[in-house]
Amino acid sequence: MPLARTPLRSRLTAAVRDRARRLAGRAVHRGWALVQDVGAVSNRNPGPYRFRELGDGTKLAFPLGTVFNEQWVTIGPFSIIGERVTISAGFLPGLDLGPEPLVRIGGGCVIGRGSHIVGHQSIVLGDDVWTGPNVYITDQAHEYRDTGLPIGKQWPRNEPVEIGAGSWIGTGAVILPGARLGRNVVVAANSVVTGEVPDHAVVAGAPAKVVRSWNPEDGWQPPIRHEAPRPIPEGVTAEQLRALVGWDLRLPGETAGN
Ligand SMILES: CC(C)(COP(=O)(O)OP(=O)(O)OC[C@H]1O[C@@H](n2cnc3c(N)ncnc32)[C@H](O)[C@@H]1OP(=O)(O)O)[C@@H](O)C(=O)NCCC(=O)NCCS
Repeated sequence: MPLARTPLRSRLTAAVRDRARRLAGRAVHRGWALVQDVGAVSNRNPGPYRFRELGDGTKLAFPLGTVFNEQWVTIGPFSIIGERVTISAGFLPGLDLGPEPLVRIGGGCVIGRGSHIVGHQSIVLGDDVWTGPNVYITDQAHEYRDTGLPIGKQWPRNEPVEIGAGSWIGTGAVILPGARLGRNVVVAANSVVTGEVPDHAVVAGAPAKVVRSWNPEDGWQPPIRHEAPRPIPEGVTAEQLRALVGWDLRLPGETAGN
């Protein structure tokens, strides 16, 4: 029916319904932003979590993924753990896993949303390790050699994992038990990493192979194909860079501008 011939009452009802929906939508988004803000976990607002160590300025975005036995997990200062990141130690919640932490995440790390860091023996991420979303890091594999037992019921095999400081793990990558990555390693998206990776290497594929590496004599080989990006424009302040990250990372007592 053309608008002009719609009875006034129906038009008013539709207008009221539209407005109510707009207001409800706004309220839902504002409410969710508040829930995310209040639900974010830090050492000042730990919620129900008891991490062995949570450095100043570190936050775990809300909603968290599966987090258990966090008493065996340490995270250094100024790290950002994205939404729905699973960080767990051991098979099940409530275990006594001994005196040492099993998962150690350094300071200045950024773990992309939906990633999993699942430790049973030792997973160590150095400082400033950044991952894209949906990265999986594990130090455990199921054993399968006993043909008479279901694989899931055989005692699993653990091998420590180490990711060197300054490394960057692309989205969807899987870091398998025993992987030891050096410093400033780049892992290409969707790669599956096993074994040792030297410092300053780019690895890609499944299984991941070194596709580019650096040494002081030859520089990057093969040479990097893309142009270097423009450096940060002059005049950009620390505040603006912090705003890009979306968190207020000031320490208690710190004020804007310092
Ligand atoms: C690895 C990466 C950073 C490119 O690094 P680069 O040093 O510039 O590498 P190049 O593009 O020169 O590629 C080098 C080789 O690796 C291969 N390669 C690059 N990325 C790959 C990938 N994800 N899987 C498989 N092979 C890949 C290229 O095809 C190329 O092979 P070739 O030499 O046979 O042609 C990029 O491909 C990548 O995976 N980025 C991740 C992006 C991401 O996850 N972002 C999330 C936000 S944090």
